[in-house]
Amino acid sequence: MIKKVFCFLLILNIVIFSFTLSVNAVQGADTCAFEELELEDYLAIIDDMAETEEYPHFFAENADRYKDFQERYPDMPFETVIALVNVNNDMEGYRYVDIVTEPDELYVLLNKNFMLPQDWEPEELTNIGHGFLVRPEAAEQLEKMRAAMRDDNLNLVIVSTYRTIARQRNLFNNAASSRGVRRAERSIARPGHSEHNTGLAVDVLHRGATGSLSSMRFEGTSQFSWLVENAHEFGFILRYPQGYTEISGYIFEPWHWRFIGIPIATAMKNRGIVSYEDFYGRYLVQGMRDKVNEYIKEQQRLAEEAEAAALEAAELEAAETAARLAAEEAAEAELARIETVIRIASQAAADEALARTRLDAVGREAMVHDTTYINIHFTVMLSVLGLLATAAILYIANVKSIGLLSVLRQVRQGDGSSVLRRQRDGSSVLRRQRDGSFVLRRQRDGSSVLRRQRDGSFVLCRINTPFGTSFRQYLQAKLAFIIFKRFFRVAQN
Ligand code: DAL
Ligand code: ZN
Repeated sequence: MIKKVFCFLLILNIVIFSFTLSVNAVQGADTCAFEELELEDYLAIIDDMAETEEYPHFFAENADRYKDFQERYPDMPFETVIALVNVNNDMEGYRYVDIVTEPDELYVLLNKNFMLPQDWEPEELTNIGHGFLVRPEAAEQLEKMRAAMRDDNLNLVIVSTYRTIARQRNLFNNAASSRGVRRAERSIARPGHSEHNTGLAVDVLHRGATGSLSSMRFEGTSQFSWLVENAHEFGFILRYPQGYTEISGYIFEPWHWRFIGIPIATAMKNRGIVSYEDFYGRYLVQGMRDKVNEYIKEQQRLAEEAEAAALEAAELEAAETAARLAAEEAAEAELARIETVIRIASQAAADEALARTRLDAVGREAMVHDTTYINIHFTVMLSVLGLLATAAILYIANVKSIGLLSVLRQVRQGDGSSVLRRQRDGSSVLRRQRDGSFVLRRQRDGSSVLRRQRDGSFVLCRINTPFGTSFRQYLQAKLAFIIFKRFFRVAQN
């Protein structure tokens, strides 16, 4: 039983712890930018927003109030109108009051429209002497500031610091009793509305001053001038400046200095913003913190988008590069293939040309053979024709053989002529006579030979020839052979 209860409590504890963590995380998220950033960075973001938005602290839901407030203060710059409306400065003090949500913060805004929560008290206070209590952060800087003033031979007397709510109530009630509520409200805050209740305000005077604060004319002292010039360096601001009574709700209080932290005090000084309501309404209201958070988120989103786009572009480029490389490789491969094809084709063409050349050579050779073949045929044909022509000539010569011998006779005569004489035995002898003539003698076998005799004469003897038995046949064959040889030579050439 005890074990079961223990387990149940353990689980319950874990659940509660987890829930607490998540709630804190959500609250942290709501104020993360303002809480986590240095003030200068936070303000720089609002300055960035002002690049595209003339009045970053403009909230549409307050538009009518801005308009009304501007009409009440026509000379007030619109940005100041917006800022003051953002802190309810357009609402009547003490009639419209908000309870501050951050009473512990150094930058807490308290005035007639904002008050501390009921029973709130500062967690820690430091005694700076003579029973004067201030918040530790303020005490540290106040000591430094007073030391700095001493270096400049300026003394600073502390006359009021932290006040309890009860003390504030007494002060206000006493003033109201003596001066009336309206006048008291001009210089004394009601309880819970006073910065003195936070431990962050100090009223100061110069040494030797006596009487009431307002009668001391602190604003005319070197101490006041020094504080106006240098207090921001120690985190203090003049909370109720001259000419700002309508805004601050209080008369000019040169003695009332509020510790607000060095960053904000310095920012106000640098930006020339005198009223803390003005500064708070421009930069520190929750709506502005939310806007800054949104702006940061939007910037992060845009950065992420840009990064994603850049990544996508890089991936796309890489893909395009890969595709281009692949295309180039493919093109190179195609080119190589084409070159190979061309080379092969060229080789084939060259081979073909070579083959054609060889074929031509073979063709020419064949032609030569053909020509030779044709020549042989032509020769044979010419030979036949020659034979026929020879036969024709011999036929004619045969018919006119006497005529032929007559020519011989004419050549061989001593006087240049020749005598063809027929013998008694029937032969004919062409004999050269002493007188130089020739006698042609016919042989018995029918052939005739023209023989040179010792006496220098010629005898035409009959001989056996492969072509015939007669001299005429021999002569015919001889002539045919001569013609054949001539034609044969001609044909060969
Ligand atoms: N004197 C200032 C307003 C205060 O009482 O807090
Ligand atoms: Zn004061």
